[in-house]
Amino acid sequence: MARSAAPQSRFVCQTCGASVLRWEGQCRSCGTWNSLVETIVRAPSRADRAVARGLAAGSGPAPQRLADLVEPAVPRQPTSIGELDRVLGGGLVPGSLVLVGGEPGIGKSTLLLQAAAGLTSAGGPAASVLYATGEESGGQVRLRAARLGLLGSPAAARVHIVAESEVGRIAEHARALHPTLLVADSIQTLVTDELDGPAGSVGQVRESALRLMELAKGEGITVLLVGHVTKDGSLAGPKLLEHLVDAVLGLEGERTGPLRLLRATKNRYGSTDELGVFAMAEAGLVEVTDPGRAFLVEHETPAPGSIVAATLEGSRPLLVEVQALVAPSGFGTPRRTASGIDPNRLALLLAVLARRAGIGLASHDVYANLAGGLTVSEPGLDLPLALALASSLRDRPIRPGTAAIGEVGLLGELRAVGGLDRRLREVARLGFDRAIVARQSRSSAIPALDGLAVVAVGSLRDALDTTLG
Ligand code: TYD
Ligand code: MG
Repeated sequence: MARSAAPQSRFVCQTCGASVLRWEGQCRSCGTWNSLVETIVRAPSRADRAVARGLAAGSGPAPQRLADLVEPAVPRQPTSIGELDRVLGGGLVPGSLVLVGGEPGIGKSTLLLQAAAGLTSAGGPAASVLYATGEESGGQVRLRAARLGLLGSPAAARVHIVAESEVGRIAEHARALHPTLLVADSIQTLVTDELDGPAGSVGQVRESALRLMELAKGEGITVLLVGHVTKDGSLAGPKLLEHLVDAVLGLEGERTGPLRLLRATKNRYGSTDELGVFAMAEAGLVEVTDPGRAFLVEHETPAPGSIVAATLEGSRPLLVEVQALVAPSGFGTPRRTASGIDPNRLALLLAVLARRAGIGLASHDVYANLAGGLTVSEPGLDLPLALALASSLRDRPIRPGTAAIGEVGLLGELRAVGGLDRRLREVARLGFDRAIVARQSRSSAIPALDGLAVVAVGSLRDALDTTLG
């Protein structure tokens, strides 16, 4: 059925940008299927026309020498949640648009309500927040606030709640109240009356996000936007959302466990490798400022298939337990299941183990995961993973107190990874007495640490001999 566009809207191809009046299944100009999205066409604003005239008359900004450019001062609004501020690069930047993604139920609304309260307490009496929710009623937000202990705090007077999903009305409230921060929970529930199409559809998501961006840039109101992620881990809604916003934060973890990780996948105002660690407790998210042991599991007796990896997330070393289980498979293709680990990396390691270290797992099911729901994608995880797999196959535990770190090459050789010094200091600090690392190109690269024996090996085979005999 062909739908016609509303008076001021067109159907725009998301691949080539061609626009037509009626919806079609396939774009006529580039041939892509299902790429037409209803989009509001607005008359150019006065500012747009001024810019266009200025450029036409040749009076745009004059080119400047790189040396003459001034570094912009980036003011910050701290949320008083240290782990969140760290991931943001030191706090929220006024007038920025930040997307916080995560699976339903992971704790996004909790985090943002806590951040809203924190911002008002850090920012003094002038700071206020408008929390617009299209998911819950005011009463439900109040229940959460009570659980977080916010009702008696000064924040209770400075955080305004509105249960609203029409983005135009949210913008009106924001223009009237002019809060320091606007929270919109969630982008999938927002709609604009000017478009038909259900909440969560590409057109609605895109238009709502654009409206909020106008509000952020035009009024200087910081906007935090909640976005649900789909099962495959991508943010629901168009990729465009990620291009539009200034920063994308992701809240991850196992919903059944307490640990939550906050990571930036994009940040125009800071680095993307900082990691925030929280624990979901009875009264909300609690910061885990020393996550050294958070991802380690205490075992009563040494268990085969387990070893501790010393990973580095941004500037922060994190020790995490790598677990592997291999079991003879029945008929058919053996299973390979990885959680928190790149499955391609696992496949590659299985091949290297078979060809370079004589450990064949072709007729075994293989399960590998990281404890605590952590996801790590760094090459330094190779060696611990290979050791855990071999340990499980031979049913022989690796001596407790051992940590490993190193990248495995296709020839079975080990390669050094960055930040070894920081990783080893953390290993020593947490009481480990042996670290298996790749041989360094310069012998001086390995620090001498009290109580920690560092074993530098050149190949996967040597590493296996050292740890499993
Ligand atoms: P929520 O913030 O509603 O998740 P999201 O907005 O990402 O969907 O949090 C959902 C879960 O967090 C819920 O199952 C209950 C739990 N929770 C706590 O354990 N402690 C708390 O203090 C709060 C507010 C929630
Ligand atoms: Mg929520």
